[in-house]
Amino acid sequence: MRKDNQSSNMDFILMGVISQQEQEEFFFILFLFIYPITLIGNLLIILAIRSDIHLHNPMYFLLANLSFVDIFFSSVTLPKMLTNHLLGTKTISYGGCLTQMYFMIGMANIDSYILAAMAYDRAVAISRPLHYTTVMSPRSCVLLVVMSWVVGNANALPHTLLTSKLSFCGKQEIANFYCDLAFLLKLSCSDIHFNVNMMYLGVSVFCVPLLCIIVSYVQVFSTVLRVPSTKGVLKAFSTCGSHLTVVSLYYGTVMGMYFRPLTSYSLKDAVITVMYIAVTPMLNPFIYSLRNRDMKAALGKLFNNGISS
Ligand SMILES: *[C@@H]1O[C@H](CO)[C@@H](O)[C@H](O)[C@H]1NC(C)=O
Repeated sequence: MRKDNQSSNMDFILMGVISQQEQEEFFFILFLFIYPITLIGNLLIILAIRSDIHLHNPMYFLLANLSFVDIFFSSVTLPKMLTNHLLGTKTISYGGCLTQMYFMIGMANIDSYILAAMAYDRAVAISRPLHYTTVMSPRSCVLLVVMSWVVGNANALPHTLLTSKLSFCGKQEIANFYCDLAFLLKLSCSDIHFNVNMMYLGVSVFCVPLLCIIVSYVQVFSTVLRVPSTKGVLKAFSTCGSHLTVVSLYYGTVMGMYFRPLTSYSLKDAVITVMYIAVTPMLNPFIYSLRNRDMKAALGKLFNNGISS
């Protein structure tokens, strides 16, 4: 049993997305670009929102929070992958692996709850504009963000504890570039029935925010269809498109990945996780700022201030 003799000094081997040399090189270079772009893009969003008084409202505070989580999210996996490649190693310690898994699940959940909070914010703004300032008060914004972090961590903890109880009998090669719950379960030689069920339960909890998002948007659309299209409604509505794009990116990849039997996992699934882990956090800032005039104005001001000072 691993628990008795070698639990703390056992390493896992991250095989990478595809085990051929050239493809490994390709992903290394891809991540080498994606990671700094993600950091800078999301940081710019936060700075632009902070510095522009026009953007001091719930919607942009939540967007800044989403960027904040995305910085964390990509930092859980990408730096390890990049440094491993540079150092010519593939190992990750047992503790490092579980830590990575914990933060991966946690950040993914926090992300989805913040996306739900953003959808709720739009629903209130469009369907109940007169109550907007009271419903989305600074206090309830903070509450929504804090709740996202609490629920995200609460969802990550059981999976991590359960995985820490598993035995890995010599097979330690993870067919991915980070420690993913599904791939770890597949490696274990213990009875993983309970773990797998918990994983499906976890994915279901992950879908609660999706339900909130759908309900919010049904409300938004029914209001927009009912009310003659005044300028204010159209303006509020324009931000929904960006939000819906991000939501479909997140949930499309997660559903495609985890709502399946474990036996059907293959190497190409690692590529789907790459999409989820690396590409979505990078795209968020672009999706929001390229389609949004206020955001562009704030970014422009940020650059001008930077140049003049
Ligand atoms: C996150 O949201 C809270 C509440 O709206 C806000 O006070 C805080 O500044 C936001 N965080 C960032 C990084 O903008």
